[in-house]
Amino acid sequence: MSEAESIENYILQRYDELCNWQEVGSYYGDSDFLNFGYWTKDTRDQKEACENLMAQLLAYIPDSSGNILDVACGKGETSAYLSRTYPAGSITAINISENQLVFARKNAPGVNFQIMSATDLAFDDNSFDNIICVEAAFHFYTREDFFREALRVLKPGGRLVLCDVLMTLEAERRRESRTEKNYLPDLQSYSELMERVGYQNVDIEDITEQSWRQHYWYAVKYFHAQFLEGRITEDVLIARLKPTYSRVPDMLYYLKGAGQKPV
Ligand SMILES: C[S@@+](CC[C@H](N)C(=O)[O-])C[C@H]1O[C@@H](n2cnc3c(N)ncnc32)[C@H](O)[C@@H]1O
Repeated sequence: MSEAESIENYILQRYDELCNWQEVGSYYGDSDFLNFGYWTKDTRDQKEACENLMAQLLAYIPDSSGNILDVACGKGETSAYLSRTYPAGSITAINISENQLVFARKNAPGVNFQIMSATDLAFDDNSFDNIICVEAAFHFYTREDFFREALRVLKPGGRLVLCDVLMTLEAERRRESRTEKNYLPDLQSYSELMERVGYQNVDIEDITEQSWRQHYWYAVKYFHAQFLEGRITEDVLIARLKPTYSRVPDMLYYLKGAGQKPV
């Protein structure tokens, strides 16, 4: 099996498992978001943080007319958020997992959901006014291939807006859902990659504190409170927090940003 296939298999298995964990849905305030969110001092819970993150990303798009592509749409909660601004008929959303798309179609009726990989977009050149990709590009084989595909299907002047995770080289090599091919040591190399692919007006910002770190503290407190109140067993507590703890030594940056297709 190629490295690309084994990453895709792992992702399908892992996210499909997450879909069935009831405590994960409760953690997200019974929403179907699946990201760290963006936390301010007033943010009360994970669902609100995920909504904040969407607002932060959409702020890179000055004109919300036209259509938008939601890449790696998870269970469709990001697409549902987009439908607050965009008519559902102008939103297309893709994911590699049919199981997640079953949830998505319920969460965002009217959105055009399609099973598709971010690195092989079955759309004509110049199809979308804007593209959003929330916390997923680190999974793609490769991120650079996705940047090229996104640039191809964007209309001139359109933007790719995204948030993404950079991990240590050792973690990119070790983790089953990631590849060394996506290793980037810092934000400057991220911007340079986007520019090399052909984006202009690239604007990448470090939000490690507002996203990953604040999510970490909230998740740790949330699941411990659930345990103290007898809502979950010790086994469940450990199972839910293990992935969170394991990210600590691996994490370099959580970033958000945008790049524009030249006119
Ligand atoms: C952390 S989740 C984020 C989901 C959603 N964007 C959100 O913020 O709630 C990552 C998503 O990327 C999807 N994904 C991973 N590799 C993909 C690929 N090559 N093409 C499309 N989607 C992919 C996964 O199935 C999963 O839904």
